[in-house]
Amino acid sequence: MKTVYNTATSLDGFIADQDNSLEWLFAVEGGAPGSEDSDALKETADFINGAGAIVLGATTYEWILEHEGDTPWPYQAPTWVLTHRELPRIEGDLRFASADTDQELRDLHADMVRAAGGRDVWVVGGGRLAADLARLGLLDEVAVSIAPVSLGGGAPLLDGRVRLRALEARLVGAFACLRYEVVRD
Ligand SMILES: NC(=O)c1ccc[n+]([C@@H]2O[C@H](COP(=O)([O-])OP(=O)(O)OC[C@H]3O[C@@H](n4cnc5c(N)ncnc54)[C@H](OP(=O)(O)O)[C@@H]3O)[C@@H](O)[C@H]2O)c1
Repeated sequence: MKTVYNTATSLDGFIADQDNSLEWLFAVEGGAPGSEDSDALKETADFINGAGAIVLGATTYEWILEHEGDTPWPYQAPTWVLTHRELPRIEGDLRFASADTDQELRDLHADMVRAAGGRDVWVVGGGRLAADLARLGLLDEVAVSIAPVSLGGGAPLLDGRVRLRALEARLVGAFACLRYEVVRD
């Protein structure tokens, strides 16, 4: 069981552009990682479907709500949305929480691991959440699918210093897919 930050990113390390848009990602030839119509990127979809718990920040949640429309939450696994606000609730196993101290984040991670029941925890983003988990020694891996585009600014892939050890590098369709182990200090 691992806690994995699995995301797509631009070559210059942004997971959304300055307008919080992912248009640049969906414009990549061959489909975005995890999309059902992309055989080459099926592995990302398999990871997502196999995850036993999911965690994401409020901006990412709001992006999904805005773009998926009025449909149930697209994932089966229990999902934690980190926020300080009352966000719209849709159908699905959604748990809204905040974690403002290191201990609160540790407790939240322990809850997710318990709920995952031996399966992986998927950290969807954003970059501050992923970096905070890494700083606390709670993140095992970072798996990135690098889109062949640079954005010049936007939401950072990792908002904090994280030491990594490369495990794997592959070209999958138009994406350079890298997998890293988080080095614990
Ligand atoms: N390329 C990809 O595959 C990919 C993957 C994931 C995300 N994205 C995109 O990247 C962008 C990420 O946005 P972002 O950098 O703003 O990160 P985010 O983590 O999605 O959202 C940040 C917000 O989440 C809430 N939050 C985060 N950690 C919290 C904590 N520990 N406790 C309580 N609340 C917490 C806070 O909102 P409040 O205090 O306002 O509630 C914070 O301002 C989004 O546009 C998303 O769609 C892209």
